Amino acid sequence: MKLDPENILKVRALTKSVQLEDKTLELLQPLDLTVNVGDTLAIVGSSGSGKTTLLSLLAGLDLPSSGEVYLKSNALHQFNEEQRSQVRANHVGFIFQQFLLINSLTALENVMLPAELANLSDAQQRGKDLLAQVGLSERADHYPSQLSGGEQQRVAIARAFISQPDILFADEPTGNLDTKTGQHIADLLFELNQKQGTTLVLVTHDHKLASRCQRQVEMDSGVLTEKVIKHQASEDITTVEKVG
Ligand SMILES: Nc1ncnc2c1ncn2[C@@H]1O[C@H](COP(=O)(O)OP(=O)(O)OP(=O)(O)O)[C@@H](O)[C@H]1O
Ligand SMILES: [Mg+2]
Repeated sequence: MKLDPENILKVRALTKSVQLEDKTLELLQPLDLTVNVGDTLAIVGSSGSGKTTLLSLLAGLDLPSSGEVYLKSNALHQFNEEQRSQVRANHVGFIFQQFLLINSLTALENVMLPAELANLSDAQQRGKDLLAQVGLSERADHYPSQLSGGEQQRVAIARAFISQPDILFADEPTGNLDTKTGQHIADLLFELNQKQGTTLVLVTHDHKLASRCQRQVEMDSGVLTEKVIKHQASEDITTVEKVG
């Protein structure tokens, strides 16, 4: 499959199923999705509907059961773990729902790690700058166990920014933050999108955050639908249409 120059991500007939003892569980029904460079896309949907599963496949963290995932013309579905990790190091930032910080590393060391893996020269300075941006300069030498949930989330966000990814996947980036901090983090995400052209793909339960994105898709029991948002005179009318 060929990507048009404006596409950064293209997915065709993607499915994911897992084999349980006595039956197969279909986590994702065949889905298509195309995301353009610089797009902001929100994935919404109820708990257990398959949002994290989809994000993992889009970012090359996991392999689909069938179908195709192209990220900047890299055929992720045909790549082995090493090839996928190379693509992730060069192009992808990921903010996990569970943060996944390394407990034996300080906040600053956690933030610097992807830059070191990508052999960027100024990892330490960039790490410090990013910690300052998320309001954690004073916490640079603290270990994850010494940080609150919201502080850990902010370290995870700084870490996702450091290698200046082409595309950033964020799974509930403001889920554990108070309204003010959440707003600030959201502002940072959209600033990155504006200033660096970073494509944003966000999973969120927060309607306000979702509505700041150009596009919204909804996951329901593994089925993805595009929400077509039509703005009319004085009121917003939202209708839902099936993708593909
Ligand atoms: N490895 C697995 N084995 C069996 N079931 C799984 C596996 N991974 C995910 N699931 C199931 O797949 C469904 C989708 O999970 P997923 O984590 O993608 O949901 P989600 O939309 O991100 O939910 P939440 O909003 O709660 O984070 C859930 O029912 C989950 O229990
Ligand atoms: Mg999830």
